[in-house]
Amino acid sequence: MMKIRLLLLPLLPCLLFIGPLRASCPIYLTISLSGKALHDSCLEVNWGPDCAGPPEWIGIYGQDPTISNFQPDLRINGITNRTGKLSTPIKLGKLLFPGGWNRQDSNELPATRYPRGKCLPHYVASYNGTELLTVECLKIQPNWMAQIKDGDQMPLKSLFLPGSHASGAFIASYSKTKSLLVKDYLVAQHFDVWSQLVFGIRYLDFSVGYKYMDSDNDADNFWIANENMFIIPLAGVLRDVRHFVERSGELVILDFSSFPIGFYKHPEIYSSLFHLLRQELGEVAYQRNMTLDQHCANRNFRQLLSLGIHVVLLFPTQELPYPENESGLLCSPWQRFSTSYMNISQTLDYMRLLFSKKPDGPVQDDGWIFTAVKSMEQTLNTHKLQTAKERAAVINPKVNQWLKGPWGMNANVVAMDYFSNTNIVDLAIEVNAHKAFLLATKNKFINLEILR
Ligand SMILES: *[C@@H]1O[C@H](CO)[C@@H](O)[C@H](O)[C@H]1NC(C)=O
Ligand SMILES: *[C@@H]1O[C@H](CO)[C@@H](O)[C@H](O)[C@H]1NC(C)=O
Ligand SMILES: *[C@@H]1O[C@H](CO)[C@@H](O)[C@H](O)[C@H]1NC(C)=O
Ligand SMILES: *[C@@H]1O[C@H](CO)[C@@H](O)[C@H](O)[C@H]1NC(C)=O
Ligand SMILES: *[C@@H]1O[C@H](CO)[C@@H](O)[C@H](O)[C@H]1NC(C)=O
Repeated sequence: MMKIRLLLLPLLPCLLFIGPLRASCPIYLTISLSGKALHDSCLEVNWGPDCAGPPEWIGIYGQDPTISNFQPDLRINGITNRTGKLSTPIKLGKLLFPGGWNRQDSNELPATRYPRGKCLPHYVASYNGTELLTVECLKIQPNWMAQIKDGDQMPLKSLFLPGSHASGAFIASYSKTKSLLVKDYLVAQHFDVWSQLVFGIRYLDFSVGYKYMDSDNDADNFWIANENMFIIPLAGVLRDVRHFVERSGELVILDFSSFPIGFYKHPEIYSSLFHLLRQELGEVAYQRNMTLDQHCANRNFRQLLSLGIHVVLLFPTQELPYPENESGLLCSPWQRFSTSYMNISQTLDYMRLLFSKKPDGPVQDDGWIFTAVKSMEQTLNTHKLQTAKERAAVINPKVNQWLKGPWGMNANVVAMDYFSNTNIVDLAIEVNAHKAFLLATKNKFINLEILR
């Protein structure tokens, strides 16, 4: 006796759309963390997880290999492992975005909408002989949220939101920065916040410090900080977020997660930061209805977008001197879970605990953030102080791989340092599309029992 579950035929295209998730050997490109400056960084080829029928060869191209018979810039033979990553000598080069998506591009013309992403000129294709098996590219995803068509009932807590940790810990000029401490240990991202958002990141984590700059504008006193050092001014970062959501129409979660310098016992400084947030983002930020006890993570993301809301601010409101009249624009922080002090096997166990989402598990039915990072201290045990890139090079691909299984369906926010060596954005988009599809078809399944 056999039980077969049948789907209605019209749903087939949606199934095919999630097909690539289960391709026999998915192959994709990422940006390695081995280079110093971003343009020096090399492309990596990734395959798996569980590459069942490996291709004979893989080609890397500077143009779309499906439109003509280009010779590959690099040919890789003999992939045998089921899951792997290989660094290539091909450099990323200067990062230029198409369609009006560079930060400095004029706002006069609307940017081209790319709801399904847009390839940068870096492609990877796999073959058996001359038979093309797969094609992928390194791409930007400035409008991916628009693509989740059936996600009408999805609250923020049900979305898989790809995020960055220490999002503002970035330096524009690697060569001009003298301090090795800053370059190797405190910078946590390859890309500035603008580019992170263009690549599809939708959760930003900010650690803020206060330094009195003796300027007329109080906004100048607030800085992105990391491990007790000031990195870049906060106001410019907030402006980038504002410009991005205006250009893209997307929704971004801003999490003010720590205040390492200058805030302790100074509620008036928290208050002044709140004023800066209200000034820069007030018009596009979610405003809670204070008479209802609303959990921001329960808000339906489509509704928020249709109300012109493009930013959700997470902030420790209890630190403000007058939380009652100030906190409508601020949401209470979501639950946070971090792997900072764990080794890889502990990280795996921890993910099993969190992502299985058992009713009695630590993850409540609310917004939650999984921060997949290794702290500097954790690597002290290994006798060598690893740089931030070296740490991310170890943990990111593992977490990325583990999220490709069933755990990805239970993810909410996943935040990393140097996320560019993963395809976390593509993964999140696939999971969200799949969830939206399941939601839309929940009542449309028919069960047939076939006896034989
Ligand atoms: C490609 O060829 C290899 C070896 O000939 C085979 O194992 C594999 O299944 C083929 N892959 C596809 C997708 O046809
Ligand atoms: C394949 O796996 C083996 C053993 O895990 C490893 O030594 C080898 O470097 C891997 N090859 C590639 C191309 O990743
Ligand atoms: C807040 O919710 C209450 C109760 O539903 C409603 O009467 C009120 O109009 C709402 N206020 C705003 C500003 O939406
Ligand atoms: C909140 O209320 C206090 C005391 O009533 C007042 O001093 C303060 O300016 C108010 N803040 C805002 C943002 O309205
Ligand atoms: C990770 O840490 C645990 C607890 O300290 C230890 O038992 C385990 O051997 C460590 N695993 C690795 C791979 O280092």
